[in-house]
Amino acid sequence: MIDFTTLRTQFPGLNQIRDGITPIFFDGPAGTQVPHCVIDAMVHYLTHCNANHGGVFATCVESDRILDAAHAGIADLLNAPSPSEIIFGNNMTSLTFHLSRSIAKILKPGDEVMVTRLDHDANVSPWTLAARDAGAAVRWIDIHAEDCTLDLDSFRKQLSQKTKWVAVGLASNGVGTINDVATITKEAKRAGAMVFLDAVHYSPHGPIDVQALGCDFLACSAYKFFGPHVGVLWGRRELLESLPCYKVRPSSNDLPGKWMTGTQNHEGLAGVAAAVEYLASLAPSGKRRERLRQAMTAIKEYEKTLSRHLLAGLAERSRFSVLGVRDFNRLNERVPTISITAKDASPQKMAAYLASNQIYAWAGNSYALEVSERLGLEPNGFLRLGFVHYNTTGEIDTLLQTLDEMP
Ligand SMILES: Cc1ncc(COP(=O)(O)O)c(C=O)c1O
Repeated sequence: MIDFTTLRTQFPGLNQIRDGITPIFFDGPAGTQVPHCVIDAMVHYLTHCNANHGGVFATCVESDRILDAAHAGIADLLNAPSPSEIIFGNNMTSLTFHLSRSIAKILKPGDEVMVTRLDHDANVSPWTLAARDAGAAVRWIDIHAEDCTLDLDSFRKQLSQKTKWVAVGLASNGVGTINDVATITKEAKRAGAMVFLDAVHYSPHGPIDVQALGCDFLACSAYKFFGPHVGVLWGRRELLESLPCYKVRPSSNDLPGKWMTGTQNHEGLAGVAAAVEYLASLAPSGKRRERLRQAMTAIKEYEKTLSRHLLAGLAERSRFSVLGVRDFNRLNERVPTISITAKDASPQKMAAYLASNQIYAWAGNSYALEVSERLGLEPNGFLRLGFVHYNTTGEIDTLLQTLDEMP
C-alpha cells in the first residue's frame, strides 16, 4: 500500500515556498517534479563519471554502466523484450521526427497513414509530413465531441489494405481520454499496418506493456514521469534493424546505437535510471518489472480519487464546463488531466489568476491542436488541470476555493 502523502517529502520542488505559500503543481502534463534520488543520480554522474561513450578508462566504464542501467530500467518500465530496443534522444518530438524520416522512405504513393483528432501534434505532424514527402495520403480518426473519445467507427471505416501506418496516443494530453489502443493496434495490425503509440501523456498514470499491446513503436518522455528532460523510443527489434536510418557513418549499426544520433545526455540518462528506480521503490517486493507494474497500478487507482474529487467539485459549479469524460462511472477512461473552460473568463485569465495564488496550470491548446480546433476552442484553448500521484484532494479543495473567489 503506497502512502501517497509521505512520498511528497521525496520531491524538493513540492516543498519550496513562493510568496509565503507552498505552490500547488497542477502542471504535471507539461513536466513533473523530480524526487531527490533523480537529482542525486545526476549530480553523482557529473561529479564522478562524466565521460563519453565506449572508452576504456574508469570514468567511461562507469558512465557506460549507468547508460546501460537506463536502457534496462526503461525496458522494465515498458516491458520491452530487450534493453537494446530502447532508444534515447532529446525528447519525444525529436525522436518521432527521426523515425518519421525513415518511415517516409518506405511509404509509397497510394499508401495511407492514419492520425487522430485527439493527439498531441508530436504524434500528428511527423506522420503527415512523412506522408506528404512520400506522396501518401493522410486519414484522420475522428472523435466523439461530447466526451472526447476516439470514434472507432471512423477508424474502422478508413482502415484498409492501403493503411501502412497508424499513430495513436495512449492518453490525450489535452482532455485526458484514455484510448483503447489495444483494440486499435490489433485491428490495424490485422490490416497489415504498423502501429506507433504515443505514451508521453499516459506514462506517469498507469502500467505500460508493449508486448501485451502488440504495437511496433512506443514513445514517451522521462520528464513526464518524474525524470529529467530525455525522450524515449521503443521499437520492435526487426523494424529497428531493418528500417533505413539517417546516421553518421562511423557510428554503430547495432542496436541501440544505430538510432541514437550523436552524444547523448548522459547525466539525463543517469536521472532516467533513477526515476525508474523511484517508481519501482513504491512497491514493496518482487522483480523490478513486477514492482513497476504494481506501483503504476496503485497510482492509477489513487489518481481516480483525484479525478472524482475535482469532477464532483466542478459539477457543483455551473460557471465551468469540463471537456471529455465527466461520468464518475467511467474514470477508467480518463487520466486525471481535467481541462475546463469558464463562461466568463478566458483560460489565460484563469491561469494567470491561479498563478498569482501559486497554483500552477497551463492555458492554451498544449499542442493538442486538433482537439482544440475540433471543439471550437481555438485560439484560446482551455485551462488544463493536470494531476499526478503526488497531488492531493486537499490541493484540489484549495483550487476550488480559489476558483470560487476568482473575480
Ligand atoms: C501526448 C504528448 N505527446 C508528445 C509530447 C511531446 O513530448 P516532448 O516534449 O518530449 O517532445 C507531449 C508533450 O507534452 C505530449 O503531452
